[in-house]
Amino acid sequence: MDTMARLVLPTLLFSLAWLSCSGGRSSKLEIDPLVYEEQLLWVSGVQGEVNTYRIPLLTFTPKGSLLAFAEGRKKSASDVGAKFIAVRRSTDKGSTWSPTVFIVDDGLAANGLNLGSVVVEEELGSIIVVYSICFLLYQCKPASIMMVQSYDDGLSWSQPRNLSRQLGVKAFAPGPGYGIQKKYEPAKGRLVVCGHGTLEGDGVFCILSDDYGKNWYNGAALKSIPYNQPKKPQDFNPDECQPYELPDGSIVINVRNQNRYHCKCRVIVHSHDGGLTLPIDNVRFDYELIDPVVAAGALVKDGIIYFTNPHNEANRVNLTLRWSLDHGKNWEKKAVQIWPGPSAYSCMTYLNSGSPEDQKYIYIIYEKGHKVYDETVSFVKVHLYGGR
Ligand SMILES: *[C@@H]1O[C@H](CO)[C@@H](O)[C@H](O)[C@H]1NC(C)=O
Ligand SMILES: *[C@@H]1O[C@H](CO)[C@@H](O)[C@H](O)[C@H]1NC(C)=O
Repeated sequence: MDTMARLVLPTLLFSLAWLSCSGGRSSKLEIDPLVYEEQLLWVSGVQGEVNTYRIPLLTFTPKGSLLAFAEGRKKSASDVGAKFIAVRRSTDKGSTWSPTVFIVDDGLAANGLNLGSVVVEEELGSIIVVYSICFLLYQCKPASIMMVQSYDDGLSWSQPRNLSRQLGVKAFAPGPGYGIQKKYEPAKGRLVVCGHGTLEGDGVFCILSDDYGKNWYNGAALKSIPYNQPKKPQDFNPDECQPYELPDGSIVINVRNQNRYHCKCRVIVHSHDGGLTLPIDNVRFDYELIDPVVAAGALVKDGIIYFTNPHNEANRVNLTLRWSLDHGKNWEKKAVQIWPGPSAYSCMTYLNSGSPEDQKYIYIIYEKGHKVYDETVSFVKVHLYGGR
């Protein structure tokens, strides 16, 4: 081998190797999720003013921070009762978190607030939390839909605003999870917050805003059957839900199947008009996503759909991360178990700066325990490419 060949050949081989690697990286580097770090953000029964933390939400902010929210249930673990909305904030991609701040306090309410949806609007860069009060109509009426907003990356929050003045009086519980701002047409820029009703009007409903949260109006409804009547086992009763947007501009809502209609699995429904309608023709059942009747997490990142729930037909155990490379038609067999034990509600987000570092991670928040799922709220940073 002459000198030239000796110099060129390794360079060439290196370039080829680099090309195939980087080619893979930009197109379809294999998803191989690794739990990169995990920490408990809230522990029930320890802090003075709160009995139980439940219903965790997680969001990115336009400035690249992470915000975690939970209900701080004051007297017991029950869905009714007085509560705080608790927030912690991380400005270093989940490594460290601010102390807990209570941003809403419902006092001594018999049936106080319930979380909720967090939605980021990127026009003004604000963060909006929509929640209900008196949703279960327990020793109170009427139910109200409320919102608070932060214009400074989650450091300070507005006074609560009563959205029922615009939406009409009804029992509507947003989420729990995040709401979306539409990235694609139709209705690019619209805020879409979906949730469910109670007996007075159960089903999945979305509320919409076309001016970044100033004015809200009622959008799509997927009503239960029989509507407005007491339910029996196996009736159609779509409940807590998480919307996400596909690159074709359609909205997919992944829904809790409250009475186990048709399967012990998730209900999936599509909206093709930006959340104005949810036609019954667009309802599907995802048999692969078995579910013990719970609120689940769903997220789209770089065209891949991620899903978290306690993967078990009967019990809230086995919090599992699934992913789909074909927009939810099929789920990859290789799932990642996040926690084998008691686990329930979950929510996901990612940081969307587009930097190579942010590209690699998704973040999960979920209810986690050893004996029961409401012992703690845990935060997990997941490296999507096996730590590479
Ligand atoms: C919110 O507004 C509705 C409609 O005006 C009203 O019935 C309800 O009492 C209000 N809720 C609160 C908490 O002020
Ligand atoms: C946990 O989920 C995995 C799928 O990720 C499944 O194979 C396993 O059977 C589940 N275990 C339990 C106890 O539900």
